[in-house]
Amino acid sequence: MSAPRPWAAFVAATLAVTVLPAAAETPLERGDYLVNSILACGNCHTPMGPNGPEVGMTLAGGTKFEAPPFTAHASNITQDMATGVGAWSDAELKTAIVGGVRPDGVPLAPIMPSAFYRVMTPTDLDALVAYLRTVAPVEHAVPPPDYRQIIRAEPPPGFEQPATATDLSTPEGRGKYLVGIGHCMECHTSRGPHGEPEFASGYGAGGMEFPGPWGVSVAPNITAKGLGDWTDAEIARAITEGIGRDGAKLKPPMGYGFYAKLKAADVADIVAYLRTVPAVE
Ligand code: HEC
Ligand code: HEC
Repeated sequence: MSAPRPWAAFVAATLAVTVLPAAAETPLERGDYLVNSILACGNCHTPMGPNGPEVGMTLAGGTKFEAPPFTAHASNITQDMATGVGAWSDAELKTAIVGGVRPDGVPLAPIMPSAFYRVMTPTDLDALVAYLRTVAPVEHAVPPPDYRQIIRAEPPPGFEQPATATDLSTPEGRGKYLVGIGHCMECHTSRGPHGEPEFASGYGAGGMEFPGPWGVSVAPNITAKGLGDWTDAEIARAITEGIGRDGAKLKPPMGYGFYAKLKAADVADIVAYLRTVPAVE
């Protein structure tokens, strides 16, 4: 073969483009990132000891949640076949995560924030399931739930459907998505007389109380009413380092340790969205 080698130029061009996908996240990397940052599944599904998450029990469940309508324990969502979700199909997992329903048709207690996960894109849901498949099996039977009343939680207005590419095309839109799948407003929305979130009148207004070994923490107002005077950096520090505006350490159960792993760009988008949440007293 002699002089001109058109394929050489072709190969060079192909190499140039293949560099990009190589640098992009694989679905598994995306799932790992989401679960261990904004989704913070382990904040509920990994049992906590006095020194933090129990070693060797990642996502193995057991934490007890008591409310008037139910007593439920966080499920074992490791790949153990008998006591975890190893035997569940991908479709069954997705129905539980975003639909809030077990394979036997029984709705999960709404402490599992499925209503907030309804906004998750199909791509992220695939990534999440791909990551769950890699979670080491841990044999750990969790007590069965006791449902005194069945409650179907509803997502906040504007979070009912999986986000579209258009929804995710602006910093505020991406931030809104992250605040949705991070179920931030589950804790930061005021509650009505029966414990129901008041999305219409108290979205972001705070007030929910969290008793625990730390005493009682109260979710603050994170609308412009609460954060209006804060700088972007102060808001970012509160989320990712658990440090209040005055420099004091913030209390659980907010998953600061998970949010510490958020990419700076994602934190910036979250702050951009919070700036758009209308002020509520
Ligand atoms: C605020 C706490 C909380 C968070 C955050 C949370 N879960 Fe749950 N989840 C629960 C509780 C509690 C249950 C059990 C509910 C019941 O028994 O009715 C549950 C149940 C489940 C189930 C059903 C499993 C079974 O065996 O019944 C799956 C699957 C699941 N969660 C996956 C996830 C994933 C994935 C994430 C992160 C995207 C997540 N959960 C985040 C509390 C939580
Ligand atoms: C499980 C409940 C819970 C979730 C989920 C949660 N938070 Fe919080 N958040 C709290 C509580 C409680 C505090 C106050 C802790 C304290 O006062 O020591 C807090 C504090 C804050 C603060 C500091 C505000 C201030 O006035 O001190 C900001 C900002 C904040 N949260 C934003 C967020 C964002 C954004 C998300 C989602 C990525 C989120 N939170 C998810 C419960 C939660």
